[in-house]
Amino acid sequence: MSTNIIDFNKSKQRLINKKYPNISPIMPSRMGITFTKTNKALDKFKKVFYEYQESLFDDGKSKKVAIEEVFIYFNRFFEEAYKELLNYNFSKVPKYKEAIDYAVLSSGKRLRPFLMLAAYNFCGGGDFLVLTPFMVAIELIHTYSLVHDDLPCMDNDELRRGKPTVWKAYGEDMAVLVGDGLLSEAATILIEIILEFSYTEYSSYVITSALLLLKLAGLDGMVVGQVFDVLNTNNKKLTMQDISYMYAKKTTALLTASLVTGFNMSARYKNGIDLIELLSTYIGESYQIKDDLLEKESTTSKIGKSTNSDKNNNKVTYVELVGVENAKKRLQILYEATLNTIDLMADNKDTKEKKVFQEIIKYVLNRDR
Ligand code: IPE
Ligand code: IPE
Ligand code: MG
Ligand code: MG
Repeated sequence: MSTNIIDFNKSKQRLINKKYPNISPIMPSRMGITFTKTNKALDKFKKVFYEYQESLFDDGKSKKVAIEEVFIYFNRFFEEAYKELLNYNFSKVPKYKEAIDYAVLSSGKRLRPFLMLAAYNFCGGGDFLVLTPFMVAIELIHTYSLVHDDLPCMDNDELRRGKPTVWKAYGEDMAVLVGDGLLSEAATILIEIILEFSYTEYSSYVITSALLLLKLAGLDGMVVGQVFDVLNTNNKKLTMQDISYMYAKKTTALLTASLVTGFNMSARYKNGIDLIELLSTYIGESYQIKDDLLEKESTTSKIGKSTNSDKNNNKVTYVELVGVENAKKRLQILYEATLNTIDLMADNKDTKEKKVFQEIIKYVLNRDR
């Protein structure tokens, strides 16, 4: 295997010279790629992000920036990072590459990587470049989970993000293989970033973040949640506790991985893991209840996916169990608990980073698609 993916010598040199790098300028260099476009897009995103952060404190001088604009620049940055990272030679399998791009570059909201970044910023994390491999990895895992979730043997859905699902556009065989490829690639990216940080003082943060991310994606997280979902299709005896378990695994797990990685990589969060877990639980449960509600109350053109999927598949959801009004009440309670928890995490201090984090969380929880 070629060693030019990672500069092992650089890592060894650090050890020999005891020269520990700052957390900022590191990113695995693949096949001599310089990440020029990623860096450029990141600079533009950072400019807009910080302008947005400033604009939340209206002193009459700062430029007004809409949160939607921040997302637009974040998406551009994410897409450049994805393209430069996955720069393999697919010339013998162009259809496969097309299907992968079709899955990843469609109009997902990219909330998991964005939440990771927001959590990192909240804790005083500086350069976002260091988070890039984690952000790409988690979105690849999330994308694979959706590609497989839509398969005829799972939810049998034909529309996702306003377009035919991957199996519908490229066939079931390609859809399974797109998922397989994205998951393996995410793990590869995570191991590479571990290697890149080996012999540095950040090594343990990187290892724990990567480990947690993979754990929460698999048998102690998202996958087992999907298994429970599949095995309990049509089960009219599902209790509230069962639904809680299912949402905690299939949806909250990956959101927890995003937030914890952000906190962890900032290496500055001091208030302990329990508050982060609490925050993730609130956000995860809200996110899935909102998803169920949107499916019930919104339109296909708005959410870009079927509004009959749960019904057609006889899925038992929280909304089915308690009704729309009670689900909305629950959402309100979770919303307030989320914002209060963030206050607590910031020791009730009013910082710019807390404000921007809360605004992003509000935007995510109030989503309409
Ligand atoms: C959909 O996730 C599946 C759930 C876990 C609710 P998103 O709503 O984040 O999907 P995209 O990535 O924006 O399409
Ligand atoms: C999908 O849950 C959750 C994961 C893929 C992990 P759903 O099946 O409820 O989500 P949508 O409605 O298809 O996005
Ligand atoms: Mg499903
Ligand atoms: Mg589904």
